[in-house]
Amino acid sequence: MNFDKSKKLYEEAVNYLPGGVNSPIRAYKPYPFFAKRAKGSKIYDEDGNEFIDYCLGYGPIIFGHANETIVEESIKQLQLGTDYGVPSEKEISLAKEVIKRVPSAEMVRFTNSGTEATMSAIRLARGITGRNKIIKFEGAYHGAHDAVLVKSGSGAAGKPDSPGIPEDTTKNTILVPFNDEDELTRIIKENKEEIACIIIEPIMGNIGCVPPKDDYLTFLREITEENDILLIIDEVITGFRISKGGAQKYYNVTPDLCTFGKILGGGFPIGAIAGKKEYMEQFTPSGTIYQAGTFSGNPMSINGGLTAFKILDDKFYKDLHNKGEYFRNEIRAILNKLDINYQVNGVESMTQIYFTNKEVYDYKTAQTTDTKGFLKYFHNLLENGVFIAPSQYECTFLSCAHSMEDIDKTIESIEISLKNI
Ligand SMILES: Cc1ncc(COP(=O)(O)O)c(C=O)c1O
Repeated sequence: MNFDKSKKLYEEAVNYLPGGVNSPIRAYKPYPFFAKRAKGSKIYDEDGNEFIDYCLGYGPIIFGHANETIVEESIKQLQLGTDYGVPSEKEISLAKEVIKRVPSAEMVRFTNSGTEATMSAIRLARGITGRNKIIKFEGAYHGAHDAVLVKSGSGAAGKPDSPGIPEDTTKNTILVPFNDEDELTRIIKENKEEIACIIIEPIMGNIGCVPPKDDYLTFLREITEENDILLIIDEVITGFRISKGGAQKYYNVTPDLCTFGKILGGGFPIGAIAGKKEYMEQFTPSGTIYQAGTFSGNPMSINGGLTAFKILDDKFYKDLHNKGEYFRNEIRAILNKLDINYQVNGVESMTQIYFTNKEVYDYKTAQTTDTKGFLKYFHNLLENGVFIAPSQYECTFLSCAHSMEDIDKTIESIEISLKNI
C-alpha cells in the first residue's frame, strides 16, 4: 500500500499543528494516513487507499459515514442557520428524546463535547454536596480536563498525568481499581462524608473494552446511596450504543447524573449532562452552579441527534448486536486456529483483542498486554485494508453500515495480520 501523499501531508502538518494532529491518539508512528472522504463502512485516504473502518471517529459514527438520512436532514438544517444564540424548539425535542430513553434522565443540559459534559457534571456534584473529593477508576478516561487526567496509583490522591495541571487540582481525585468491591469500600470508609461523587465508565472503553463484573454496578449504586455520594455514569461511549437507554438501561442501574457525547450528535460535536431534576435545576440560570457554552445546543448538533433517534430503533440494535457477537466469535475461531491464547473482550458492538493470555478486568490486567505486538498488528491490518484505532487501549466499534461481507473480509485480514506479527 502506498502512503506517499499522507507522508507529505504529515511532514507539512507538523509545521502548523502540534504533532501534526488535533488530538494526540491520531498521531501513530511513523505518520497517520490523511483522510480524504468516508462513506458507509469505508474511509478513504489521500493516496486513494480504502479501509474498512472500525475506529468510526472513536465511536460516534454508528450509522457509518455520510449516512443518507443524516446528510439530507443536515443540509435542510444548514439552510436554516447554524447558531442562534437563543433557544430553539428542537432543543426541547432532543431533551425529550433523551429523557424518554434514559432511565435516570429527567432533565438535560447540552454541551459541545464529552469533556465539557463530565467537567460540568463533576462541578454539579461538588456544588450539590459541598464536598471536594471525587473517586474515579484507574485507566478511566473522562475527557481532557484537569480533575480527571489522573490514571496512576490506586487508593491514593492521584498525580496529574500532564504538566500544567497543578497537583492541588488533582489532590481531590482518588483512584480505585475497576471491578474491586473491597478497595472501593475501604476508600469510601477512609474518606467518610468527604466524597462528592464517583464517576465511572460503565464499560471501560479507554483501556480497550472491559465490562463490569456481575452486579458490580449494582454494588456501586448501593454503596453510593448508603454514603450520600452522587453516582455519575459516563456514557460518552456507551450512550445509545450499548442499548437504546445506554449502559444504565442495559445493566439496570440508575445513576444520579450521567453524561453523553459521541452518538448523541448524529455525527456532529455534542455532549450532555442528564439526571434528576432536583440536581439538574441547580445549573445556572435556574440554579447557581455555573455552566455555559457559545455553541451549546447549536442547531446542527441538535438536529443531528434528532435525526439519529429516528434511526435508532429496536431492530437497529438487534442487528448491530448480532454483528458484534458474530465478529467476536469469528475472531475467537481464528485465534483458536492459530493456537494463540489472546483475550477477546466485548459487549454488543464494542470489541477488543488483548495481546495477553491473562484475563483483563481492570487497568492493571490490561497492562499485561504486548502493546508493541498490537501496534505491529495494527499496521498489518492497515496493509490489509482494515483501520482500527492505533492502540491496544482503544476499542473497535461496529456500525450498521458494516455488511457481513465487510466483517468476513476483516476476519481474513485479522488472520493474515496475526500470522505476520
Ligand atoms: C468515556 C469518555 N468520556 C468522555 C470523553 C471525552 O469526550 P470528548 O472527546 O467528546 O471531549 C471520552 C472521549 O473519548 C470518553 O471516551
